[in-house]
Amino acid sequence: MSSTASGAAKPTVTVTLDGTNRSTTLPLLSGSIGPQTVDIRKLYGDLGIFTFDPGYGATASCESKITYIDGDAGVLLYRGYPIEQLAEKSDFIEVAYLLLEGELPNAAQLEAFRKGITNHTMVHEQLRRFFDGFRRDAHPMAILCGVVGALAAFYHDNLDINDARQREIAAYRLIAKVPTIAAWAYKYSIGQPFMYPRNDLSYAENFLYMLNAVPAEPWKANPILSRAMDRILVLHADHEQNASTSTVRLAGSTGANPFACIAAGIAALWGPAHGGANEAVLKMLTEIGKPENIPAFIREVKDKNSHTKLMGFGHRVYKNFDPRAKIMKDTCHEVLGELGIKDEPLLDMAMEMERIALTDDYFISRKLYPNVDFYSGIILKAMGIPTHMFTVLFAVARTTGWVSQWKELIEDPSQRIGRPRQIYSGAVQRDYTSVDRRG
Ligand code: SDX
Repeated sequence: MSSTASGAAKPTVTVTLDGTNRSTTLPLLSGSIGPQTVDIRKLYGDLGIFTFDPGYGATASCESKITYIDGDAGVLLYRGYPIEQLAEKSDFIEVAYLLLEGELPNAAQLEAFRKGITNHTMVHEQLRRFFDGFRRDAHPMAILCGVVGALAAFYHDNLDINDARQREIAAYRLIAKVPTIAAWAYKYSIGQPFMYPRNDLSYAENFLYMLNAVPAEPWKANPILSRAMDRILVLHADHEQNASTSTVRLAGSTGANPFACIAAGIAALWGPAHGGANEAVLKMLTEIGKPENIPAFIREVKDKNSHTKLMGFGHRVYKNFDPRAKIMKDTCHEVLGELGIKDEPLLDMAMEMERIALTDDYFISRKLYPNVDFYSGIILKAMGIPTHMFTVLFAVARTTGWVSQWKELIEDPSQRIGRPRQIYSGAVQRDYTSVDRRG
C-alpha cells in the first residue's frame, strides 16, 4: 500500500523477480465500476520486463467514459444507461448524441444535433467517381472502406484535429455521410442509380430510402422497418475497446486524419471473427439447410480439426448472454410478426441451434452464448437487406462509436502514440555471409 496526501492508503501491487531482491510497487487503479487495473507503466523501467497479453484480453488500453460491459453479468451501458432502456425508449440520433457528448440531450440540443447531422448527409459530387473504379461484384465493405478513406482527400489540408470545432464537424460529417456512401455501395453493386439523401426523413428512414428507393417511383417509409432499423443501429453503435474500435484508436493516436482512422476501423470490422459474423451466420444457417442437419454440424464444430466455428456464438468479453442478442431475438420475432412472415426456416433453425448449443457441455463449459450477430442477419434478411450488406450496416452504426472513441482519445491529455512491444523469439544477432558461402 502507498498513501495519498490525506494519508488514505492507495492500493498497490508489488512485483518481485524470483531469486532476486528486485521488486517494484505498482499503483492499482479503479474506475467508477469494473475490475481494478494494475498500472504497469513503470514496470519496464524498474525491472526491465514487459507484460505479455496477445489479443489484449486482460489489458486496459485506455481510460474511457463511453461504454461499459460486464461480460459475466451480461451488462452493456452507454454512458451509464442500460442498452435495454435505450433500445426501447430512445432512438439512434439521440444515442449518437449521448455517446458523443456524454449526456442525453435536452430538446433544443437534440433538435440542433439532428439538424447538424441531416445537413451533412450529402457527399462531394466528385466522390461519385470513386465508385466507378470498383468491379460491380466488389464486396460493399471493400467499397465502403475505400470510399470512406477517400473522404480524407476532401477534408485534410485545413483539418486541425486539435481544434474542438473541427473535431465536431469531422464527427458530424462521418456520422452523416457513412450511410450515404454505404447505400451507394449497394446501389452500385446492383447497377441502380444513387439516391441522394432526403432532409425530411429520420436517420434510419433516410438509410432505408437510399437503399431501396428508385427515381422512377415515390417511396414511402415503412414504420415497422424504420423502427427495426433504428433499433439495430442503436444496438450496434458502440462496444468498448473491441477490435475495430482499438484499430481506430491506434490510428488516431498517431494524429492521422479521422476519415482515414474510420476507414481503418471499417477494415478491421469486416473480419468474420468480428463484424463479418452476421453475414457468416446466414451463410452457416443456409449451408446447414434444415434442422435435422444441426446435430452433425454441432459435432463438426466440436471436432477441433474441422476449424469450424458456430458463427454468432461466443465472445471475448461476454461469458453470459450478450444483452444485445436477447433484444435482437425479440426484435426478430416482432419484425417477422409485423411483416406477416409466419414461417421463417432460418429463424426456426437458429432457435433450434441455440437450444441445442445451450444444453451441450462443449458450449456450456466454454461459456459460449449467442452474440449480437446471431439473430441480426435473420431480421435484416426479413427486411430485404442483402446478406453482403449486413456488415456494412454494422459499420454504419459503429461509425458513431468509433467517432466518439476517437474524439475521447484526442481530447485525453495523457494520450500518447500507441506502440505495443513483443516477445522476440527470432534469430539472435549473427553476421552476413555472401551467397557463395551459404549452404
Ligand atoms: C463481435 O469485441 C467485441 O465487443 C465485438 C463485438 C462488438 O460489438 O464490437 O461484440 C462484435 O465481433 C461479436 C463476435 C462475432 N464473432 C462471431 O460470432 C464469430 C464466432 N465467434 C468466435 O470466433 C469467437 O467466439 C470470438 C472471436 C468471438 C471470440 O474468440 P476468443 O475470445 O478467442 O474465444 P474464447 O477464448 O472465448 O474461446 C474459448 C473456447 C476455445 O476453445 P478451446 O481452445 O478452449 O477448446 O471456445 C471456443 C474456442 O475455440 N470457441 C468456439 C466459438 N467461440 C469460441 N467454438 C465454436 N464456435 C464458436 N463460435
